[in-house]
Amino acid sequence: MRDRENPVSHTLDTGIPSVARMYDHLLGGVDHYQADRDACGRLLEIVPDSRALALNNRAFLRRVVRHLAEKHEIRQFLDHGSGLPTADNVHEIAQGVHHESRVVYIDNDPIVLAHGKTRLDQNDNTAVVQADMRETDVIFEHPDVERLIDKEEKTAALFVSVMHCLKDDEVAPLLERVRRKLAPGSLFVICQLVSDRAEIREGVSTLMREATQGNWGRVRTKEEVTGYFSGLTILEPGLMNVTEWHAESEVVPQQRTEDWEEWGGIARLE
Ligand SMILES: C[S@@+](CC[C@H](N)C(=O)[O-])C[C@H]1O[C@@H](n2cnc3c(N)ncnc32)[C@H](O)[C@@H]1O
Repeated sequence: MRDRENPVSHTLDTGIPSVARMYDHLLGGVDHYQADRDACGRLLEIVPDSRALALNNRAFLRRVVRHLAEKHEIRQFLDHGSGLPTADNVHEIAQGVHHESRVVYIDNDPIVLAHGKTRLDQNDNTAVVQADMRETDVIFEHPDVERLIDKEEKTAALFVSVMHCLKDDEVAPLLERVRRKLAPGSLFVICQLVSDRAEIREGVSTLMREATQGNWGRVRTKEEVTGYFSGLTILEPGLMNVTEWHAESEVVPQQRTEDWEEWGGIARLE
């Protein structure tokens, strides 16, 4: 029966693996179900270093948010496909640099809203919006986005480990729509799963599409991801395996993954 007190509960299907919950499982979190763990088991058979990849990606997210706040004085963040709360969430990093930084988390998975309401939406300068990141107008007209994101001020638009969830013809139009909404000087952080090996690209993409009932895109090539940055100014240190991106600030060296990587970087809207 539908739970009127909790509008999220009736939309959360624990029998179908979700990208957010699989990622949480790989990161060592607790917000996942048997179907997610089974799908992760199949993924690990194709790419055994998937846990290292997830941990490396999350470490990149921490480094890049701190870098944007410290070096570029970014004070407002739109986190597209934010994922479930975990250690060192974006607002904790950003507000650690500047306590009034504003962060809007956007995810279409109801479990992110359910857990995010308590663990991401923690003060007046944070909000969790359940929305499809492709619906740019809906997002920018949302009351929390209107309240927290000043359209005249530069914004960081985060697309970290999310573009592989979208179909080939969806990525460029999405970036174009967001570019039109943001002030000059805004920064884009974009990375996604890539592999030099065709069998990994095919194997993972087929598995993820089946597991999520078509709710996924593709593991791509570095050349394809480079294309996402068209019309933006790529900033130092350039596009790369995100494990290498300003890795000198990590106390402990991260494991390199062999079969695939998260690849991308940051760029400015002129
Ligand atoms: C691999 S996780 C990445 C989480 C976080 N960005 C990070 O890097 O740690 C991908 C997230 O994107 C979300 N996602 C996928 N497609 C989406 C869409 N069309 N709209 C909003 N969120 C989406 C998933 O629910 C999931 O939480």
